[in-house]
Amino acid sequence: YEISTRDWSSDVCSSDLNRFMTTIGIIGCGAMGAGIAQLALQNGHRVVLFDQSLQAVKQAIQSIDGQLKKLIEKGRLSESQWTDCMGRLLQAEQLHDLQSSNLVIEAIIEDLSIKQSLFKQLEKHLSETCILASNTSSLSIAALSSVLTAPQRFLGLHFFNPATVMPLVEVIPGVRTSKESTVWVYNLMKDWKKEPVLAKDTPGFIVNRIARPYYSEALRIAEEGIADFATIDWAMKSQGQFKMGPFELMDFIGHDVNYRVTETVWKELFFDPRFKPSITQKRWFEAGLYGKKAGRGCYEYNSAASMPEPTKNPELAAVIFNRILSMLINEAADALYYQIATREDIETAMKKGVNYPKGLLEWGNQFGLQLVKETLHKLYHRYQEERYRLSPKIEDCIRANQLL
Ligand code: NAI
Repeated sequence: YEISTRDWSSDVCSSDLNRFMTTIGIIGCGAMGAGIAQLALQNGHRVVLFDQSLQAVKQAIQSIDGQLKKLIEKGRLSESQWTDCMGRLLQAEQLHDLQSSNLVIEAIIEDLSIKQSLFKQLEKHLSETCILASNTSSLSIAALSSVLTAPQRFLGLHFFNPATVMPLVEVIPGVRTSKESTVWVYNLMKDWKKEPVLAKDTPGFIVNRIARPYYSEALRIAEEGIADFATIDWAMKSQGQFKMGPFELMDFIGHDVNYRVTETVWKELFFDPRFKPSITQKRWFEAGLYGKKAGRGCYEYNSAASMPEPTKNPELAAVIFNRILSMLINEAADALYYQIATREDIETAMKKGVNYPKGLLEWGNQFGLQLVKETLHKLYHRYQEERYRLSPKIEDCIRANQLL
């Protein structure tokens, strides 16, 4: 369906105060579930937590309590607000205890059949008007909704980690999601002072699709021996003002998570070579070298290990930066071409979801679309690989003498 800007106006959201008087159910109380629950509490909702592990619920309650107390120390929350928040936090012992929820957000393990079986059971306990959302980072919303008798009330609601800090939320209606459910959830996110963007139900949605080359092209450059990890990280930070280099960031995210997302996006896009994962990263993943949390990934993290020094060669840095940035701009342009999201939402997503210093479309215009084209063409001819094919959007803009 078409969405007019009127649907998303702040008038709609501020006049609909009922959204604040709602109960939010959270299923899966790990890192994401706990963060989302805290957000909902701080926004005045009654929150009901459910997890298959009682221990996980207890830990989430403790973690929320601890986070809120930190806010008191910083003077950002009063004692009475803390009492009020904790008083609205409830624990469900069975799915039936979620029956009074107006919105249930699922954040359990990233597995299609496990999520589907949960939704099938859950639907029986919910009121007809309850909206159901999944925090999935990579699964198809259409596939998840296929087990529901009322798929029109189901959608993707993708928060970024940590959910209390990162402003971006991708709102992803599936082909059978109703416009009412989408608008209600979108406006709720505005009420929570988040930055919601609307994404098509396509692999990786916006951020996890467009950001792929930041990791995979960096890995490729290292695999070819053009530069080592530290030099590539340095190049991206010094030339592009990225907060973290690709290897530092992959180690931080975890190669288990990062590799799986890359593989899923590639497979779901019918093995498009542009998204082909890296063997190097697959081996780290297989060996359990997940990065920071495992003590080793691209780098070593123990008290004896020191970070390797980059080779600070400005010419090499420019080659690395131009190659990775051109790939990122091309991906953002392609997402625009295929209408994965609006221009504005593509820009917001990369700035607010992964802290990019600039929107990639704006960056493309400043960097020069002709330069992106030349960089990709050189790579395409050198490697004879579809991985480096240019987006038709860039070609169209150059031909029409327009900006992205
Ligand atoms: P996690 O592993 O920290 O927590 C998952 C929780 O779900 C655990 O407490 C587990 O006991 C519970 N659980 C598993 N199966 C269950 C079931 N059948 N019924 C009830 N509870 C069950 O996972 P995390 O990192 O919080 O991720 C959750 C979801 O959020 C996944 O879909 C993931 O892809 C997505 N996500 C994760 C992000 C991240 O950076 N960690 C970012 C954005 C989305």
